[in-house]
Amino acid sequence: MSIDHTTLDPERVEEFQGLAVAEAAAAESAACVYLGDVLGLYEALAGAGPLTSAELARRTDTHERYVREWLANQASGGYVTYHADDDTFELPDEHAAVLADPDSPAYVTGIFPIIAAAWASADRAAEAFRTGEGIGWHEHDPRLFTGVERIFAPLYRHQLVQDWIPALDGVHDRLTAGARVADVGCGHGASTIVLAEAYPNSRFTGFDSHSASIAAASKAAADAGVGDRVGFEVAAAETLPGRDYDLVCFFDCLHDMGDPVAAARRTREALADDGTLLVVEPQAGDGLSENLNQISRLFYAGSVFLCTPSSLSQDGAIGLGAQAGPTRLLDVLGQAGFGERRVATETPFNLILEARP
Ligand SMILES: C[S@@+](CC[C@H](N)C(=O)[O-])C[C@H]1O[C@@H](n2cnc3c(N)ncnc32)[C@H](O)[C@@H]1O
Repeated sequence: MSIDHTTLDPERVEEFQGLAVAEAAAAESAACVYLGDVLGLYEALAGAGPLTSAELARRTDTHERYVREWLANQASGGYVTYHADDDTFELPDEHAAVLADPDSPAYVTGIFPIIAAAWASADRAAEAFRTGEGIGWHEHDPRLFTGVERIFAPLYRHQLVQDWIPALDGVHDRLTAGARVADVGCGHGASTIVLAEAYPNSRFTGFDSHSASIAAASKAAADAGVGDRVGFEVAAAETLPGRDYDLVCFFDCLHDMGDPVAAARRTREALADDGTLLVVEPQAGDGLSENLNQISRLFYAGSVFLCTPSSLSQDGAIGLGAQAGPTRLLDVLGQAGFGERRVATETPFNLILEARP
């Protein structure tokens, strides 16, 4: 240790120590949010008005002593409001929209199982830092796969058909008339199913290299009643089956691939001459200096544990990272031979890129 403590500015030390303690409080409380999700505590609080710990425990079939401690953590973090006069706890409707309603556009609770999966692979990640080896997507704790579906599905339900498809040149009309669509790196198929529900004349195939995700996607499509126009297959993007697609989509997966240029090049071959490539990626600026904010911080953390190891586990091992930014992403598409490419639209969380052969 080579710090000379006599030269430190004590106020700066104290200020940063306060920040580090607040971060630790948030990080440990994230495990409490996970419990609130798994045990249905937020669901039971939503719209219920003020409840005592005993009432919440009764409604969720849990033990009061644990619930009381959990509520104290939630109150001290500002998640629930504590009414000291009658010792009750209330989840404001605005907080319920974020924590308890999977159909809400503001819902974020799916991120907490992803954090659990990141912790589950933390020692493996430390080893990967030392060896430089990758960690395959399939090697992670399964809470990653359902968490990703839960965190992205609200974006697709509320933005994909409403905002992103209309931002692409002529794609809405083509899907309405009947198009052939590939959803590459589809995971549990949330985006594929949203598109299939909106465009009944079109035919969709979701591809992913992770076989368990493909099995889950097939079941989800059947459950959603769109199994007649949606199929799912295990396949890597670099060897994408099929040809003459009108639209090929990559939702939050191009940067997870070992060789994004090879994946995009194969897509170009598989597209119809007048087809469209849609690439949705995490929002980011072109350089780290533009990304020094909390949303990028979250994405960089995911990139450390999930995205970069996934890429480094595959042929190419380019390690694009989840914060590549628009210039680098459009350059990848250019290297793959796409003549026309642009940022079609963007949101606080996503960049929506369009490319044509
Ligand atoms: C962050 S998840 C996104 C899943 C889905 N698109 C969504 O938005 O919910 C990334 C997905 O890319 C898949 N993937 C990674 N590399 C791949 C490759 N080379 N070919 C096909 N799929 C790949 C992973 O298996 C994983 O399902």
